[in-house]
Amino acid sequence: MPLLGVNIDHVATVRQARRTNEPDPVHAAVLAELGGADSITVHLREDRRHIQDRDVRLLREMLRVKLNLEMAVSDEITAFALSIRPEQATLVPEKREEITTEGGLDIRTHRARVERCVQQLQDQGIQVSLFIDPDVTQVELAAQMKVSAIELHTGAYAEARTNAVADEEFDKIVEAGQFALTQGLILNMGHGLTYRNVRRVAEIHGINELNIGHSIVSHSILVGFERAVREMKQLITV
Ligand code: PXP
Repeated sequence: MPLLGVNIDHVATVRQARRTNEPDPVHAAVLAELGGADSITVHLREDRRHIQDRDVRLLREMLRVKLNLEMAVSDEITAFALSIRPEQATLVPEKREEITTEGGLDIRTHRARVERCVQQLQDQGIQVSLFIDPDVTQVELAAQMKVSAIELHTGAYAEARTNAVADEEFDKIVEAGQFALTQGLILNMGHGLTYRNVRRVAEIHGINELNIGHSIVSHSILVGFERAVREMKQLITV
């Protein structure tokens, strides 16, 4: 049974839509812990579009479960990560124009930069995970870099429009994942997982953790909306 990492970026997205102080992702993190989250993930993007430095600092202080900081291979963010020292850093690609992380980190093309960043983080005792596509060559390179973990990108499986494509993408995840286990890597997965498509992935042998964000935040709005309206209604009913 895999652990559940909850990504709370989109709680911050709602806050940043008004640049106010609610909803506070730190509050959401506490509730996620109470709900059974095994770790909390936040992506501090270079453009700070959702999570802010302050969020990461507070989470680092108050979380009881593991803090997983998603980050680009960038000097500025690496310096921040080294000052915060989360239990884990997950290196992800980042382009300013994308809506979310759109593919795995290409560690073949960016090998030297990635290796330098991994070294800096590991020297400070931060466990490093690489977010990569389910591709055996990428997994092999990750193993050569001596990182502790990988996170396989499940987006292509999650977004498949037909069962045949979903099956094809699922097979790639299984193959890359089982290869990662033979290399002694901790096996995590995530991106695009929902209440509908997660079961099949959760049953894959040897997975350590699934990282899920958007679907949980979306569902929370719906399951909590009725109560929120009712409470406001009560308040103005004088
Ligand atoms: N894992 C990584 C590396 C990600 O970049 C993201 C998205 O921020 C997730 C998991 C979570 O994806 P989703 O929000 O689609 O559940």
